[in-house]
Amino acid sequence: RGKRPAGAPDKKLARPVTKVGIIGAGLMASQLALVFARNLKVPVVMTDIDQARVDKGVAYVHGEVDKLLAKKRVSPDAANRAKALVTGTVDKAPFADADFVIEAVFEEMSVKKQVFAEIENVISEECILATNTSSLSVTEMASGLKHPERVIGFHFFNPVAVMPLLEIARTESTREDVLATAFVTAKDLKKTAVLVKDSAAFVVNRILLRLMGEIARAFDNGTDAATADRALAPLGLPMTPFTLLKMVGIPVAHHVSESLNTAFGDRFWVSANQQRLIDAGVKGIWETDEDGKQYIPESTLELLE
Ligand code: 3HC
Repeated sequence: RGKRPAGAPDKKLARPVTKVGIIGAGLMASQLALVFARNLKVPVVMTDIDQARVDKGVAYVHGEVDKLLAKKRVSPDAANRAKALVTGTVDKAPFADADFVIEAVFEEMSVKKQVFAEIENVISEECILATNTSSLSVTEMASGLKHPERVIGFHFFNPVAVMPLLEIARTESTREDVLATAFVTAKDLKKTAVLVKDSAAFVVNRILLRLMGEIARAFDNGTDAATADRALAPLGLPMTPFTLLKMVGIPVAHHVSESLNTAFGDRFWVSANQQRLIDAGVKGIWETDEDGKQYIPESTLELLE
């Protein structure tokens, strides 16, 4: 009781979070907005490159709150409060008084570095800059910023509302108060935070991508997709690899496998079949028919070699 996780700082150093900024308004960013608004009960502002994306993100949050209301998981008052807390803007000015900004944009270093550099010109000196990257180096993302000491990895898992774990990655220069605020914020978000080393794909995705990579390798090497996907059934995982792949997003998972392959070589497989699916815009391998039965469409099978 009261024992701090290994390497976690003294929570007395933590600073209050009174407003949250989210860079990105895609599915991950929108899930983050919901979790922050519901648990911290502070204003959450989302931004993206155009108004349509921003509106879609805010609509997602409102839709999820409505689902919770329909299930009577929240009171009408709490639902209205949560909805009112989440706003969206293309203009970055509302980020000026945020104390915790997290990015959840496309999993590419150049994109992430660019959004960090842009937002640094808007946010206050004290504001923390967190990244939800699944696989990229937080140290490299912070390099070139005016204040790399405020940058921290804050990595959630899909679906954010349900998965309890949060990986926190500090860099050599992350300040103690930033780390302390991250841990206290994680607790306020009702997540279980673990401190991980800033290294390719941290801990969870390294393990997960070994499993997913072996399925993809079997599949690329001629095992049919349906058989490959069912191969892990004896392990009792809650989802098959391809179901998980659809939820995470094939392009995201593919980027993680590429980062791991760059860092560790062939033990992490970059799947040619996955690349074909991405190029063709296929979101998932399994579809569900009217009777709820899963099948792989002919058009998808034709893409696979
Ligand atoms: N959003 C919100 N809530 C969701 C949800 C979603 N997308 N999906 C499921 N839930 C909720 C349900 O509403 C239900 O809540 P309730 O019990 O309060 O009604 C609860 O989760 C259980 O859902 P179900 O009974 O429908 O289904 P399951 O028992 O199969 O649980 C699951 C769903 C929790 C998603 C489970 O299948 C699971 O744990 N899957 C594995 C997820 C996983 O491995 N995630 C990690 C992905 S890797 C990642 O994200 C890293 C990234 O960086 C790449």
